Amino acid sequence: MSSTDQTIVLITGANGGIGFSLATQLLENAKYLILLGSRSAEKGAAAVKQLQEKSLPGKVELVQIDVSDEDSIQKAKDVVEEKYGRFVYTHSIPLFISISNPTPVLPSRIQPSLTH
Ligand SMILES: NC(=O)c1ccc[n+]([C@@H]2O[C@H](COP(=O)([O-])OP(=O)(O)OC[C@H]3O[C@@H](n4cnc5c(N)ncnc54)[C@H](OP(=O)(O)O)[C@@H]3O)[C@@H](O)[C@H]2O)c1
Repeated sequence: MSSTDQTIVLITGANGGIGFSLATQLLENAKYLILLGSRSAEKGAAAVKQLQEKSLPGKVELVQIDVSDEDSIQKAKDVVEEKYGRFVYTHSIPLFISISNPTPVLPSRIQPSLTH
């Protein structure tokens, strides 16, 4: 699958609970590249390993992000932008989706830039 056919989904809080379940379900489809967001690098790496061991069609990579920490959000944004490019919508087709879980209390000047 070419990278242009791929839909990149960032799921925060995805090392456990609902976020992890969502990541698992999306990985059933090869079109998804899941950026598994975790505030703990250790827990995140373990979750990524667990998912990779399932050999699901989609791809998964770790992004360290604590949704309650402005610096962490900014850092994650910079890392993701540098590695995957800007988050743009073309003809209403989302090339990048961000799912915030658990519900974050985000600084308003940061939040829009994660999804636009
Ligand atoms: N489970 C349900 O049936 C249900 C129903 C309705 C709504 N909800 C809501 O949905 C959300 C997720 O529920 P859940 O059952 O998946 O909860 P959970 O099992 O406690 O998982 C929450 C996930 O969020 C992560 N997290 C917590 N604080 C974070 C932060 N500051 N930055 C980044 N990640 C953070 C946790 O990471 P750590 O491992 O590092 O703690 C964990 O991976 C909650 O807000 C809950 O209230 C849940």
